[in-house]
Amino acid sequence: MLKNTRDRYGLVTKLFHWAIAFSILGLIWLGWYMVDLTYYDPWYHKTLSLHRVLGLGVLAAAVCFLLWNRVSPPPALPRSIPRAQQLAAAGVHHLLFLMMLLLPVTGYLISTSAGQGIPVYGWFEVPALLAVSEATRDLVIAIHYYCAYGTGVLAALHAAAAFKHQFIDRDGVLARMIWR
Ligand code: HEM
Ligand code: HEM
Repeated sequence: MLKNTRDRYGLVTKLFHWAIAFSILGLIWLGWYMVDLTYYDPWYHKTLSLHRVLGLGVLAAAVCFLLWNRVSPPPALPRSIPRAQQLAAAGVHHLLFLMMLLLPVTGYLISTSAGQGIPVYGWFEVPALLAVSEATRDLVIAIHYYCAYGTGVLAALHAAAAFKHQFIDRDGVLARMIWR
């Protein structure tokens, strides 16, 4: 079953969700690790290149995921879940979608701020579209920083809610994003 139905997630949504989720969690770790390396450390360049390319991959995947959600809307939550919790879940999902776009865009702006493009392993180059001032770059670095670690906290709350629903409320909410 590729498409979502009224009460189940289809394969395409599951693949988008887990590929993006694991990539973002990996990127948070990679970002945290790489900023402590010195410029002369050989791992600095390797990890920064990987961070940029994987992050741009998340942007492309997130745009496709959002378009797919229009083609095949997500199932409604079980009716047993109180309205306040349904609204909280929808709010968190919207914020996570926003972060999938905002994080790569701010990362792109930091990396291209001096007007140079981003090479994708000698395959092609993502061009720099706008050079930004030093002050704007500092602001964008701060947004990237707070949004990245904020997304880590949000994802932890989102995962905790999924586990609570699966193992305490037993309403199958985690199951339907994995195996059901
Ligand atoms: C950074 C990591 C993550 C992001 C960005 C993310 C994002 C999202 C988004 C946007 C949705 C809504 C999907 C849609 O509307 O089609 C969703 C649903 C869901 N996520 Fe995540 N997620 C992340 C990590 C996780 C983790 C670690 C778990 C569980 C351990 C999880 C479990 C779920 C479940 C169960 C749903 C379905 C909720 C429902 O049935 O409505 N997610 N996630
Ligand atoms: C979902 C995607 C992304 C996530 C979750 C993410 C996460 C992070 C994190 C956690 C840091 C470390 C912040 C710190 O501790 O100072 C960081 C730094 C950085 N990221 Fe990303 N990032 C993403 C996408 C991108 C993209 C697409 C690019 C470039 C094309 C990029 C470029 C950078 C750069 C240049 C830094 C270093 C900033 C500095 O000088 O402090 N990121 N990122």
